[in-house]
Amino acid sequence: MAIDEPLRVALIGVHGYGQVHLDGLLRLAGTGAVRVAGLADPRPPAPESLARVRALPGGADVPVLADAAELLERVRPDVTIVSTPIHTHLPLARLALAAGSHLLLEKPPTASMAQFRELSAEVAGAGKVCQVGFQSFGSRALAHAARLVADGALGPLRGVGVHGAWVRERAYFARAAWAGRMELDGVPVTDGALTNAFAHATASALRVAGVPAGADVGVELQRYRVASPEGDDTASVRLTVGGIPIVVAVTLCAAEHRMPVIVVHGERGRLELEYTTDTLTGRTADGAEVGAPPGREVLLDNLVAHLHDPAVPLLCPLADCEPFMHLLEAVRRDGPARAMPPAAVEEIDGRPVVVGVDDLVRRCAEDLTLFAELPAPWS
Ligand SMILES: NC(=O)c1ccc[n+]([C@@H]2O[C@H](COP(=O)([O-])OP(=O)(O)OC[C@H]3O[C@@H](n4cnc5c(N)ncnc54)[C@H](O)[C@@H]3O)[C@@H](O)[C@H]2O)c1
Repeated sequence: MAIDEPLRVALIGVHGYGQVHLDGLLRLAGTGAVRVAGLADPRPPAPESLARVRALPGGADVPVLADAAELLERVRPDVTIVSTPIHTHLPLARLALAAGSHLLLEKPPTASMAQFRELSAEVAGAGKVCQVGFQSFGSRALAHAARLVADGALGPLRGVGVHGAWVRERAYFARAAWAGRMELDGVPVTDGALTNAFAHATASALRVAGVPAGADVGVELQRYRVASPEGDDTASVRLTVGGIPIVVAVTLCAAEHRMPVIVVHGERGRLELEYTTDTLTGRTADGAEVGAPPGREVLLDNLVAHLHDPAVPLLCPLADCEPFMHLLEAVRRDGPARAMPPAAVEEIDGRPVVVGVDDLVRRCAEDLTLFAELPAPWS
């Protein structure tokens, strides 16, 4: 049912990526499209953030609590944004649904496929919607690439490769107890380069390839860790759907930080999409150069528009994450990543770098191969 009043939106988890959600929420609240219903985080918000909430009309009365359950019970928001550690997503989403709330849930939506199925059933049972935080799904460049593939503008699809080379300090894995963990206190976390930092890479590649929910997805994995305590920080995976390979090769231990790129290999055309910057280049089968309309739609704005008018489709409904969850579940079952041999790692400016990995991830995406098939010296 469409909602006519400004929606009341609560935010759970205000630090880390929650700061981005708080900015988005305050921007929308500034237009009058929504009202801030409340914030919850055991760590109080930064004084500047709190001051911005208090400066809103009615902001003096916005509850800011340590406990999410108490907040949800007290304010019963129309929409709850959950931007907390992966293993807390399902319990917090449940609380929000029980309080009568729709969800904007950060990625990855849950820490296992079983949890994903439970959440999907509970969202449907509650008659609510759940948008997942794959923000690249709002990209016009990504939508254009997906349309070109679907229309056969590149000829038959040979495969999709993604390469990602990021630089992360060791402190990245020490920032929180859950960082780089497969489990914590007996519950799955499933954090790693494939399932978290580069989750967008896989989810976006699956979207560009047009893989629907319910598709049969084969998964071959090669996962290594250098600085991560358990999860992968350097990995390659090949998903196979209907005989088409989708290869994702990524590292958080690169010599140089580069924008990740999705390479779409058609029989007679090729695209390159930087999904973090919405840059699309390439050529179609008829030799035409490809460009794309710039910009992207924001997930919260889209969710609000959808709730006001259900004819507006959600950009990333929970069900659309099912193909990605096959990767996450395979990673969870694979367990802790294999330790990278020390000889493959050098220290540069006090951080670990896998020798040659910047080039290797790119070759995996070009050749649609796993590290071991190149082969990489360590695999
Ligand atoms: N969409 C993106 O590009 C993007 C980028 C980074 C992180 N994320 C996702 O955002 C989520 C949070 O990641 P992060 O790196 O910001 O984590 P973080 O650990 O840095 O911050 C999480 C925040 O949640 C709070 N929190 C923890 N448990 C809570 C609870 N029960 N109730 C209320 N607040 C709680 C913490 O105190 C902290 O302030 C993860 O799912 C992550 O994958 C998404």
